Amino acid sequence: GIHWTVYPNHHEASLAVADTISAVLIEKPACVLGLATGSTPLEVYAELARRHREEALDFGKATTVNLDEYIGLPPGHPQSYVHYMHEHLFRHINIDRDRTHLPNVHAADLSESANDFERLVESTGGVDLQLLGIGTNGHIGFNEPGAEEDSVTRVVDLAPGTIHSNSRFFESESDVPRRAITMGIATILRARKIVLLATGDSKAEAVAEAINGPISRDNPASFLQTHANVHFVLDSAAAVGL
Ligand code: GLP
Repeated sequence: GIHWTVYPNHHEASLAVADTISAVLIEKPACVLGLATGSTPLEVYAELARRHREEALDFGKATTVNLDEYIGLPPGHPQSYVHYMHEHLFRHINIDRDRTHLPNVHAADLSESANDFERLVESTGGVDLQLLGIGTNGHIGFNEPGAEEDSVTRVVDLAPGTIHSNSRFFESESDVPRRAITMGIATILRARKIVLLATGDSKAEAVAEAINGPISRDNPASFLQTHANVHFVLDSAAAVGL
């Protein structure tokens, strides 16, 4: 089953994830980190930036790959995930920009671009630690309910509920992109270690289903039950269903 730990609040849970990422970086400076966006990991990134600044945590040899990117936003859009990563992490640390990777959504052929990203992830030698958040419907990356266990990086449609919930970052719901390129379930499951951070009561149901429910396309995070090294880091609100 999935191993999980409950912390009293979002802050403590974020520090625990920052500890895990720091430990990987210290043990293997040339590690490959799989990164996530959304509001949940913001404090993790702030803590990593602080440790770089104050404790010389070194990203100089690390490589990063991100889970997903919106399709349809102009380059440089503040809500694009590439902008998010630069703003919240990359510009604060000593990472080599040539070793930071997100799916390219500005290519002429998007499905070819998705295939290229899948190959790129493989060519890194494999993700040492994949950080995940979870959607209220159990999505990981942008693998919405219905995603197949053997899915790889591809173009996907966002679920209506995801568009609605991400509209808080945009002026209106009609401005939220309808599509994305996301790593697939199989891509994510190839990581050597996976840490899923979930906080707040809105995630409680999805978390409980992912851990204790059947392995099912209805909750894509439930596929994590098939992985040997997954850790859910929760606050008490996200753990109420366990
Ligand atoms: C987003 C992202 C996911 C993220 C999830 C939860 O749409 N594609 O990677 O984990 O939804 O977001 P949040 O952390 O803001 O609740």
